[in-house]
Amino acid sequence: MKNSSIFYRGCLTVICITGLLGTGSACAQTVTIPVETAETAIVLQVAPNKDVNTIYLGKKLSNPEEYGGIPGVYQQGNNYSGMYNSAYTPAGSRNLLEPAIAVTHADGNNSLDLKYVNHSVTRVSDDVSLLSIQLKDPVYDFEVTLYYKSYYKEDVIEQWSVIEHHEKGNVVLQKFASANINLNAGSYWLRQYHGDWAKEMRPEETELTHGIKTLDSKLGTRADLFMPSVFMVSLNHPATEDEGSVLFGSLEWSGNFKTDLEIDPQDNLRIISGINNYASPYQLAAGQPFETPAFVYTFSSEGKGKASRNLQSWARNYKLVDGKGNRMTLLNNWESTYFDFNENKLSELLKDTKKLGVDLFLLDDGWFGNKYPRNSDHAGLGDWQENRKKLPNGIAAIAREAQSDGVKFGVWIEPEMVNPKSDLYAKHPDWVIKQPKREEYYLRNQLVLDLSNAQVQDFVYHVIDSLFIKDPAMAYIKWDCNSVIYNAYSVHLHQNQSQFYVEYVRGLYKVLQRIRAKYPDVPMMLCSGGGGRVDYGALQYFTEFWPSDNTDPVERIFMQWEYSYFYPAIASANHVTDWGKQPLKFRVDVAMMGKLGFDIVIDKLSGNDLKFCQNAVSTYNDIKPIIWQGNQYRLSDPRTESVASLMYVNADRSSAVMLNYLVNYRYDEGSKRPIRLKGLDSAKKYKITEINLYPTSTSVINSTSVYSGDFLSTVGFNPVVNSDRTSVVLKIDAVKE
Ligand code: DGJ
Repeated sequence: MKNSSIFYRGCLTVICITGLLGTGSACAQTVTIPVETAETAIVLQVAPNKDVNTIYLGKKLSNPEEYGGIPGVYQQGNNYSGMYNSAYTPAGSRNLLEPAIAVTHADGNNSLDLKYVNHSVTRVSDDVSLLSIQLKDPVYDFEVTLYYKSYYKEDVIEQWSVIEHHEKGNVVLQKFASANINLNAGSYWLRQYHGDWAKEMRPEETELTHGIKTLDSKLGTRADLFMPSVFMVSLNHPATEDEGSVLFGSLEWSGNFKTDLEIDPQDNLRIISGINNYASPYQLAAGQPFETPAFVYTFSSEGKGKASRNLQSWARNYKLVDGKGNRMTLLNNWESTYFDFNENKLSELLKDTKKLGVDLFLLDDGWFGNKYPRNSDHAGLGDWQENRKKLPNGIAAIAREAQSDGVKFGVWIEPEMVNPKSDLYAKHPDWVIKQPKREEYYLRNQLVLDLSNAQVQDFVYHVIDSLFIKDPAMAYIKWDCNSVIYNAYSVHLHQNQSQFYVEYVRGLYKVLQRIRAKYPDVPMMLCSGGGGRVDYGALQYFTEFWPSDNTDPVERIFMQWEYSYFYPAIASANHVTDWGKQPLKFRVDVAMMGKLGFDIVIDKLSGNDLKFCQNAVSTYNDIKPIIWQGNQYRLSDPRTESVASLMYVNADRSSAVMLNYLVNYRYDEGSKRPIRLKGLDSAKKYKITEINLYPTSTSVINSTSVYSGDFLSTVGFNPVVNSDRTSVVLKIDAVKE
């Protein structure tokens, strides 16, 4: 075998292999381009006819020179078009399958072919590399650059494309995916999610059959409500927590998305993900690059747990705002007051915040609107001036009082929205998304502002900016988004209505970029009438997200469990509320799975309940570095076992937190067998202490016993969960010998 190779240290190798496929000897004829991370490789190959195909995605080989031999060991019959495994399938030429890109050229022609021109690699850091592959149509002046950003340590890859042309007139992009990846296995098992308000992240896992399975959203302002863009595909059999090959993927886009999963005639799986082209043929002017959002994925050959830890550490290291930093515990007033509060009530709540021991008081919906006061969800959105009756001295006065009480202060805002009953609607009807000739249709009595319009972007930016200007100590923003888009129409876009869905999200990101440029560190919660906007496109501007308005702790165990496959605990805002029938301790223990907050009436708590909450906040302060930055392991699945159990382990495996919850309330259910711990050092010795006990109770766990990591991971430990002890939090600490 003759070959020449260039190694890009650590992250990415580019090899020109000749001879393996018997297709000639010149390097330029068969270029093999592996993108490698610590454990994974996606390998592209330039065919002699200059098509770029994916020849492998999976566990990386120890010798990258062998990737070129992969196609030779498959005998899967005819690939008629020669492009079933195209790295970016163009429509209208030889292609017979779902395309990644479809266009109408300036001359009205619908055909596209994309041929390799060159590729290059940029080493961004020791961990991160960026491969770009330039493709060009041999007939039209039309090109696409494919990007592969690889995160070596995290085993994560982001893929996107940039589309550009220099034709004489506009080209219409009929479809414009971010990524087109190919998997090869005997069978494919898709775990997808569906839901609705208060029912987020419900999983379904099924075997994919031939044809196309589409995951998508057409909600406009957000990806989720009915279906988030996150999914998993296991190869050959459904991966378990610790075994099996599985790919996790998601589009980093906060609007309409579409992911097609197609088993091709050779039984390979093609996954094409991007902005949904629904109602969105995009007019692209010459010389204007169109950048698609990134599709992020990770591949694990050690089950779902490893894949989730990959994504979690990638998010903390690279995506979330301040992913390695601090977060504030808080008291929110939404469920304790709803719209009914005034300055006096807020003064009391500030004192309660202090009494509880959390860091911040978060003032929720209802503080604004005068002509149309925000006393219910029927009016006021858009009029972001303090309501003079409720807050005669303004937000700044509350903020000052918070400061003198020694707590931080933050506010809720929903700046993209407008109630028809508002000054804003009366003044700027042309800023509102609605069909000019049709009846308005509302979700939660509100409409959406047209963020494709730069003036509206400016307005939204200044709404946020003025909050900080009025109160420079403003420490937190909860950014809500309760409505989807009905009757999509923008006055601003005139004849270009099909650009609307794309330009809305771009407009939102422009606003968020401006806010982050001026306020890079301020914590912001991403909320969307529950968990509707949890995606990595939005999360790069936020420190945390609101998983659901459903805070029933049993429901939350299931939701938080599924969210945790894709998002780290530090990003999950979990509030203790009065939803559900579980005891206070159970509710607090469940909220500790992520970032702890409260939304209960503190002055109605009994003495013991208050004491418990105060102690819980201080316990949480001790263990939060492990929960936020540790590695998460799922131990016992609430969907198959009576007890849900998971743990977080710190980097040097000296400390861990194990959270256990009873989820089956049938007679005599509980933790009958030991639960195997994970992530500990088998050579270390550990002691286990029950923490977060209710004031009147004592633990049945003997905290003086010492166990080896080997024992705990092989035999396990019984947290003694039963109907008297429905939730148990354990702290596991290495013992110095
Ligand atoms: C929906 C959010 O999910 C709730 O937490 C709350 O902020 C309300 N909106 C306020 O209107």
